[in-house]
Amino acid sequence: MPSSSASSPPSLLIIGTGGTIAGVAPSAGSTAGYQAGALPIGQILDSVPGLSALVPEGRLATEQVFSIPSEQMSGAHWLQLAGRLRAWLSGDEAPDAIVITHGTDTLEETAFFLSLVLPATRPVLLTGAMRPASALSADGPGNLYDACRFALAARQAGIGGVFVSFGGRVLRADAVYKQHANRTDAFAQRFGQPVAWLEVDRPCWQPALAAGGLQGQFATLALAHTAASAEGDAASMTLPPVGIVPQHVDADPAMVAWLRSRGCQGLVLAGTGVGTMPAPMRAALAQARQAGCLVVRASRVPEGYVGRNTEARPEDGDDALDFIASGWLDARKARILLQLCLAAKMGNAREIQALFERCSP
Ligand code: SIN
Repeated sequence: MPSSSASSPPSLLIIGTGGTIAGVAPSAGSTAGYQAGALPIGQILDSVPGLSALVPEGRLATEQVFSIPSEQMSGAHWLQLAGRLRAWLSGDEAPDAIVITHGTDTLEETAFFLSLVLPATRPVLLTGAMRPASALSADGPGNLYDACRFALAARQAGIGGVFVSFGGRVLRADAVYKQHANRTDAFAQRFGQPVAWLEVDRPCWQPALAAGGLQGQFATLALAHTAASAEGDAASMTLPPVGIVPQHVDADPAMVAWLRSRGCQGLVLAGTGVGTMPAPMRAALAQARQAGCLVVRASRVPEGYVGRNTEARPEDGDDALDFIASGWLDARKARILLQLCLAAKMGNAREIQALFERCSP
């Protein structure tokens, strides 16, 4: 439920979704064995004393949309969150800026999804923490405070769109990934430069860098409709089902047929190197493509670019097989973009390829 003491539109809206930033461990010295998503957003704010100085009296609003450890995130949660955000952004009461607290484990995926489906009219910054709220060394209060000041500074600079604020930097939603499972500087960009950072206490945005990518590309797509289109065994999914096929030594190409049997309308290969795969995997994916399933070649490597037609034999290339190359996007981000392309009834691989190419440094 929204909570606001605002008589005029909120200057800042903070939305809670759970995660370690809302986590409670058995003791203050412990950073493990905690319950993520235990604290409501109002209680998290109590640990950020400087916040009242950032936001004019009575112009801070909060809303707890759900409270989960983010490994439990699903398409249904995304649609619920996007629905609330679209409602806030389209009404007369649109806040100047929005901050979302989120678990770090799937934060990069939620950020990219929201960047595609929300209008880029206001700054929306996701943040989280690597240590629970109860820890002596908690990083959540600092990250939340930074996200709020970055968000308000973005609005002042006329910058809108979805970004991730973590460890004193703001990162692009299409490029951000969790680079470390334990450290507090847990996030980096797969490509391009951070779009904002702190110079001593001053948030410095680079508007040109913040303008890149596919922000708002599917802002008018009817998300309720996509929820209704899930079928059969994929009933628990709320967006068109797209699976990731991991390539590794001795990877079983039968996985392609299995994912198809589960209703996948698109497949993303997390390939070796520049999205490479052995011949049996290529044959299985080519067969899926011939049956109408869209196929994206991405890479399992944390950084780098997957270009088109990198195979020696033209008959193995993307042109011949009608595959899409993921470009700078990793497999997880490629999966989300392909889901939304399918939801928007895009079936032409070349048109989808053009969208992938817009995510670049
Ligand atoms: C989660 O993603 O909810 C747990 C891990 C974290 O937030 O760091």
